[in-house]
Amino acid sequence: MNVLVTGGAGYIGSLTCKELHTRGYKVFVLDNLTNSQASFVKWGTLIQGDINDGELLLSTLKKNDIKAVFHFAGMIEVGESMRNPMKYILNNVVGTYSLLENISKAGIEHIVFSSSCATYGNSEKIPISEDNNQKPVSVYGETKFFGERMIHDLCMASNLCSVVLRYFNAAGADPDGESGECHDPETHLIPLVIRSVYDKDFTLQVFGNDYPTRDGTCVRDYAHVTDLAIAHVKALEWSMKTKAKFEAFNLGSGKGSTVMEVIKAIEAYTKKPAKYIQKGRRDGDSDVLVADISKAQKTLDWQPKYDINTIVSTACNWYTKTFNKN
Ligand code: UFG
Repeated sequence: MNVLVTGGAGYIGSLTCKELHTRGYKVFVLDNLTNSQASFVKWGTLIQGDINDGELLLSTLKKNDIKAVFHFAGMIEVGESMRNPMKYILNNVVGTYSLLENISKAGIEHIVFSSSCATYGNSEKIPISEDNNQKPVSVYGETKFFGERMIHDLCMASNLCSVVLRYFNAAGADPDGESGECHDPETHLIPLVIRSVYDKDFTLQVFGNDYPTRDGTCVRDYAHVTDLAIAHVKALEWSMKTKAKFEAFNLGSGKGSTVMEVIKAIEAYTKKPAKYIQKGRRDGDSDVLVADISKAQKTLDWQPKYDINTIVSTACNWYTKTFNKN
């Protein structure tokens, strides 16, 4: 079966292509390569282009006899979205509209959408389940929420079936070392802690130590990227079997780690000290974000295999290999 992966040259998209390829799917990747790398497209055919190019989209869907679409393409940084909202609206909202319009024209019946726990905003109930209120507090979260609603509305009015996957903190790297986190600029905690270990000129800033948590730093639910990739394949197969119109699943590990616990895990694995200084809180950070993943476990028969220590070890191995450090 032929599938299209938008954003398939990115971090989570590329490893989903690997899982799809391993399970016998024929993969086509549509990616504009703005925040991703052509070298990550190892398990499919790269079509370089933008989801806002409707003509390219429609011809790609038709020419390659695409039966399902995985929609990863989008902008992902909360802080940047507050400074440059139009970039997020163009890529995440207008881009998703363009994709949906052409999916409809091509008669595609299945879409799996990359959403985010950022759509919940500051959740009143932890762990966060899918029925928690969605009240995004960032432009990024709003654009993902709007993407979900567009998909929902189109599904109700057409043959399209959808699964929306709300990721918590994607982390770690391919255990075989074929793909990993490579953002420019990098803003995520785990790669930055690792950089502070190996790069003598880099010091991590720890944002906030007065949160109501066990050590005062924020708690996040880090989910291994391979576990996320496997969940995508399971989501498509479940969707094809049940033909459910719209279903959302949280994807995390179900366990929280503080910023200081992540730093200690990286120091323990590398046996080297991290360099960090304490700073004030970062705008837009929630105290605690931990997923209730029971719905994905039961419904999709999905079980995360990697814990924070394996997330850290795969991320460190990827970093030292990519940047030639030891
Ligand atoms: N942090 C630091 N120093 C840094 C970077 C991060 O202390 O240099 C802290 C943050 O304050 C936060 C934690 O580490 O407490 C995790 O921060 P990340 O930037 O790694 O991740 P976020 O939780 O901010 O963001 C992630 C995804 C987003 C998604 C969001 C949902 O990257 O795409 O979760 O809340 F939208």
